Amino acid sequence: MQTVVVVGLQWGDEGKGKITDLLTADAHVVVRYQGGNNAGHTVVVGDQEFKLHLIPSGILYPGTLCVLGNGVVINPKVLLEEMDGLTARGIDVSGIRISDRAHVIMPYHPIIDRLEEDSRTVGKIGTTGRGIGPAYVDKYNRYDAIRMVDLIQPEVFAERLQEVLERKNRLLKDFYGHEGLNYEAILKEYQGYADRLRERVVDASLLVNEAIDRGDKVLFEGAQGSLLDVDHGTFPFVSSSNPGSAGVSAGTGVGPTKISKVLGVLKAYSTRVGEGPFPTELPDDEVSKLRDGRGREYGVTTGRARRCGWFDGVIARYSIRVNGVTSLVVMKLDVLDNFETIKVCTAYRYRGELLREFPSSLRVLAECEPVYEELPGWNCDTTGARSYEDLPKAAQAYLEKVAELAGAPVDMVSVGWRRDETVIRKPIWG
Ligand code: GDP
Ligand code: IMO
Ligand code: MG
Repeated sequence: MQTVVVVGLQWGDEGKGKITDLLTADAHVVVRYQGGNNAGHTVVVGDQEFKLHLIPSGILYPGTLCVLGNGVVINPKVLLEEMDGLTARGIDVSGIRISDRAHVIMPYHPIIDRLEEDSRTVGKIGTTGRGIGPAYVDKYNRYDAIRMVDLIQPEVFAERLQEVLERKNRLLKDFYGHEGLNYEAILKEYQGYADRLRERVVDASLLVNEAIDRGDKVLFEGAQGSLLDVDHGTFPFVSSSNPGSAGVSAGTGVGPTKISKVLGVLKAYSTRVGEGPFPTELPDDEVSKLRDGRGREYGVTTGRARRCGWFDGVIARYSIRVNGVTSLVVMKLDVLDNFETIKVCTAYRYRGELLREFPSSLRVLAECEPVYEELPGWNCDTTGARSYEDLPKAAQAYLEKVAELAGAPVDMVSVGWRRDETVIRKPIWG
């Protein structure tokens, strides 16, 4: 059994897209298990850049089965636009399958998402505005949810939409002062999407389990990151799903006994988009060296500048624990190429006490001061490194410090956005 979970260990944008694409060279199936088009995964092939939001990052290899699991919330308009965009660039999208149990993002979800954020003077989450939270609210609330299986049955959908839209329009008009949405227009638009997607809607749990049972190599591609996990992240400044490895079983219908490896993806430093605590964040006038140049730290989905800071060992250790990570890949080492010294956070100081474990209380976190160790930089270009020995000694020492703080082995190192700009110390597919 060869099944690998690719999970982000920080606040997203660690480089999951690049790694998923790389590992797909030897995989048969790639499955997204949570999130929606709040994700933005970048894959660079030669001089072409692909930005994927819903479609698994394995799509660039012809013949790969790319599955959207039941845990994903699907905006059919965005999915079709993404499929059309890829097709126009000569990419084969015939391998895309969608779980019949996945929930649908409806037009009122992004509207409610934005109205809700706009209505707050304090406590804004800084969401991507894609309707992710409101769609998951409907799923867990149960009353107003629409699943793919409903969307593709014309009569069921027409009935369901009428019922749900009546309530949503009441909410939009009476609570938010919005003009409301038109039933006929949505019905027509969504019936069009259903007609184009129907043949791809399947029992995805059955499909993926059968693939695993016949010995196919299966990748589970996380979106967001562990610190954005609704259970283990910096709540409430999180997304509304479980990006962590535990989300795989619930979000795909593949039992935990069928998951063999968890690959944790870590940036060599830290970034965050949106609001919420970030202990090692650098002040605005110091972030440029990480954000600009090779860092290119601007959101793929919203274009927002990412907040940047030093590597946080407390968070790495915590994320490795909650995800059961078996090996690490450290991304974007090249972004640290031009620093005299580099800081890593080894613990937090809270009211004079040393904290080694990540606190749950945002009040405690707000008072935590990172305790830094300063390591020498290497001041040279690492993008040409293809083996661990090619890396300068100071970069090797930095990676060893990351592994020691995190408590897991660094099996891969990424030194650039291209596929070949990667050092593989131990193959992930065993
Ligand atoms: P994801 O959401 O985890 O897939 O990550 P994003 O695609 O949002 O952000 C990662 C960014 O870093 C993208 O622009 C990638 O092309 C880029 N990237 C990935 N690996 C490397 C690397 O090793 N070095 C550099 N400089 N950029 C990288
Ligand atoms: P990938 O898969 C980084 C952040 C948003 C916001 C919070 C909640 O590319 O790593 P949401 O729209 O999900 O309700 O927003 O989560 N966020 C991400 N940050 N990368 C992502 O995805 C993200 N998806 C959501 O900025 O702070
Ligand atoms: Mg991203």
